[in-house]
Amino acid sequence: MTYEWVKVVHLLAVISWMAGLLYLPRLMVYHVDADKGGELSETLKTMERRLLKAIMTPAMIVSWVFGIWLGVLQGLWSELPFWFVCKLAMVAVMSAMHVWLAGQVRVFAADANIRSGKFFRVMNEVPTLLLIGIVCFVVVKPFV
Ligand code: HEM
Repeated sequence: MTYEWVKVVHLLAVISWMAGLLYLPRLMVYHVDADKGGELSETLKTMERRLLKAIMTPAMIVSWVFGIWLGVLQGLWSELPFWFVCKLAMVAVMSAMHVWLAGQVRVFAADANIRSGKFFRVMNEVPTLLLIGIVCFVVVKPFV
């Protein structure tokens, strides 16, 4: 039963993390057009900070801890099948995107953003594409 319960927690954490990675860039799309120092900009700063600190970062940590644990239970860290290496590579990019977004939250908090709304719309697609790739590799396990 341990494996199933560890996977339950892994999937719940992954879903929460993904929700934040898909929503935060969207908030930044609207933040670009908000007047610096205005009520909307200050509200978006609070939303971005809370989403990152209260949901995304804890969910990312739990996703990693229970994902690593699943790998131990399945003996994947010694075997390192190709599908798992590909999944980990995409998860590493997803984690780098998380760290980059955390930096953007600080940039907006300092009213120092210089990027366009279009830029954040494009960046919003990155976690979507990674999500599709990760789920395909972990469920289908190609090249076994
Ligand atoms: C954060 C680092 C992560 C690690 C170390 C990790 C590791 C693992 C491992 C070892 C399994 C069990 C595979 C098996 O038993 O066949 C698993 C299952 C799964 N992971 Fe992750 N994972 C991580 C992140 C993610 C992310 C970001 C997603 C989705 C975006 C994801 C989606 C899944 C799914 C859907 C399963 C269940 C697959 C199944 O039951 O067929 N994981 N993960």
